[in-house]
Amino acid sequence: KGQGWMIPALVQYQGFWYPPISVFKGVLLMQNHFTSRPNDIFMASFLKSGTTWLKAILFATMKRDEYEFATHPLLTTGPHDCFPYLDSYICQSDVEALPSPRLFATHSAYSILPKSITDSDCKIVYISRNPKDVFVSQYLFARKMRPQMLPPLIMEEAFELFCRGVSEYGPFFDHVLGYWKASLEFPEKILFLKFEELKKEPAKHIKKLAEFLGKPFLKEEETDGVIDQIVKLCSFDNLTSLEVNKTGTSNFIPEMVVYNTNFFRKGEVGDSKNHLTPEMIAQLDQITEEKLKGTGFTFGESTNIE
Ligand code: A3P
Repeated sequence: KGQGWMIPALVQYQGFWYPPISVFKGVLLMQNHFTSRPNDIFMASFLKSGTTWLKAILFATMKRDEYEFATHPLLTTGPHDCFPYLDSYICQSDVEALPSPRLFATHSAYSILPKSITDSDCKIVYISRNPKDVFVSQYLFARKMRPQMLPPLIMEEAFELFCRGVSEYGPFFDHVLGYWKASLEFPEKILFLKFEELKKEPAKHIKKLAEFLGKPFLKEEETDGVIDQIVKLCSFDNLTSLEVNKTGTSNFIPEMVVYNTNFFRKGEVGDSKNHLTPEMIAQLDQITEEKLKGTGFTFGESTNIE
C-alpha cells in the first residue's frame, strides 16, 4: 500500500497505483470481462492532462452528425457524463447496451489494458501534458477533493510522492512512456497528443483526430466552419461559461459526487511556475530529463515554461 492524496491508501497493481474504490474493481472487470468492438474509441490520459477537454472534443467530433451546435448535449451535460470512463461505467451499467461507436475513457496505463483492447482494431487517443503543470493541477484538484476529516495536503509532501512515482494512476512517467512507445509501435492504432500543442493549434489537431478515427471532415464541413465550431464549443471559456459546468455534478464514481467546476481551473500552459519553487522546478526538470533519455519523446513545448 502507498500513500495517496485524495484518498490516503493506494493499492499497487501491476506496477501502477490505484485508489481502492470502485474504479479499481472496474479495472479488474475491464481486464477480465470487457470485449471491445473494432469501432470502439478509447481515450487515455494521466490525471489532469486534459481529459475533460479531449472528452468534449472527441464527443463533438465523432457525434457531429447527430447534434446541432445550438442544442448540443455539451451545452447542458458535463463532458464526463457525455463520455464515460470504461472502468467506472462497467461497474454500474451494461457496456454491451451502448450503441457503436462506443466512446470510452480510461486513466489506466497501456500495460494494464486488456488484450481485447490492445490486440483489436479499435483506436486509442492519448493526451499527455508536461509534468510540472500536471503535478500542480493534480495537487490543487486533490486539495479540493480531499475529505475534510483528513489533514490538509502539504504541497512539498505531494511533490515528493509524485517525484517518486506515487500518485493516483502513477508512476506518471511510466504512464506517459507506455503509451508513447506503443504509439511508435502501432501508429495506426494509437494517436499521441500533447496538451500544449492542442492548446496552440486546436483546429489542426481536431482535423488530424477526425482523420485518424476514420471520420475526416468533408470539404463542405470545413467550408461551413464545423471545425471552428467544435473548437469554440469545447474551449475553456465556453465550457466554463455553461451552467452545467458551474453548478452541475457528474456521477461517474459511484461513491462520490463530483462538481463539474472542479475539472476547470485555468486551462493554461505553464501556470505551474506560479506555484512551484525554483528548486521544485529544477528537481522535476532533472527527473524528466533522466526519464526521457533515449526515448525520443519530449513533452509539449511551451514558450511560457521557463
Ligand atoms: P489546470 O488545473 O492547469 O487549469 P483533466 O480534465 O485531465 O482532469 O485536466 C484538468 C486540467 O485541464 C485543468 O488544468 C483544467 O483547467 C484543464 N482544462 C479543462 N478543460 C479545458 C479546456 N476546455 N481547455 C483547456 N484546458 C482545460
